[in-house]
Amino acid sequence: MKIIYVNDYDEMSERAATIIAKQINQAPNSTLGLATGATPEGLYQKLIQLNKQGKVSFKDVTTFNLDEYVGLPHTDKNSYRYFMNNHLFDHIDINRNNVHIPNGLADDLEEECKRYEAKIKEIDVQVLGLGLNGHIGFNEPGTSFSSRTHLVSLTDSTRKANSRYFQKLDDVPRMAITMGIETILESKRLILLVSGEEKSEAVERLVNGNISEDFPASILKSHPEVVLIADKAALKRLNVQNELVC
Ligand code: PGA
Repeated sequence: MKIIYVNDYDEMSERAATIIAKQINQAPNSTLGLATGATPEGLYQKLIQLNKQGKVSFKDVTTFNLDEYVGLPHTDKNSYRYFMNNHLFDHIDINRNNVHIPNGLADDLEEECKRYEAKIKEIDVQVLGLGLNGHIGFNEPGTSFSSRTHLVSLTDSTRKANSRYFQKLDDVPRMAITMGIETILESKRLILLVSGEEKSEAVERLVNGNISEDFPASILKSHPEVVLIADKAALKRLNVQNELVC
């Protein structure tokens, strides 16, 4: 895993946008894996700017999102479908037929997981955020490294972290659909974005800890093409000056 040290959130977003724009410009029909959460918002803003400036086109791009809550309609501000429309898709020239997000309202959720998994084409670049407990997507600690798209019960830690977007903790869904860890690892390249001091313990554990299902992100160290773009605050417990390979 290559670590790129950046000064702040803005620089993290800029570096990630540059990688993605380059990928699309080299292969206009690229497939992207996308994430939600506070971390990638800046990246999406930069991609919107690049699209508006005519520097990148999403016309032939296909996207697959990592996850979705169970039970929230698309019109709900907290659904990941709403988040993606609002933060990216409504503002770029993407063909909506090429946008894929798990359906958390499906009658048969197990069937929906299978359907989604079968649809996923090889992902050229997958964007990931890092959960405080090491989750990637909604793959919580203890998830098998050989998991495929599946239904999960969210941990208290994740529900609490995400409750900042809801009126109260009780409103945070208890279940979600997520791409599995093996599904994620089949991506050709992965970009893990981390910003802020709050994540510094998780980053330290990722870099210095063992590869273990207790800390799902640790498996990324076994993938040949992972870049962690992290800012100064997130890297404060580690001695990284510019770039490091671990
Ligand atoms: P965040 O979430 O981007 O909102 O910090 C990351 C995650 O939990 O995967």
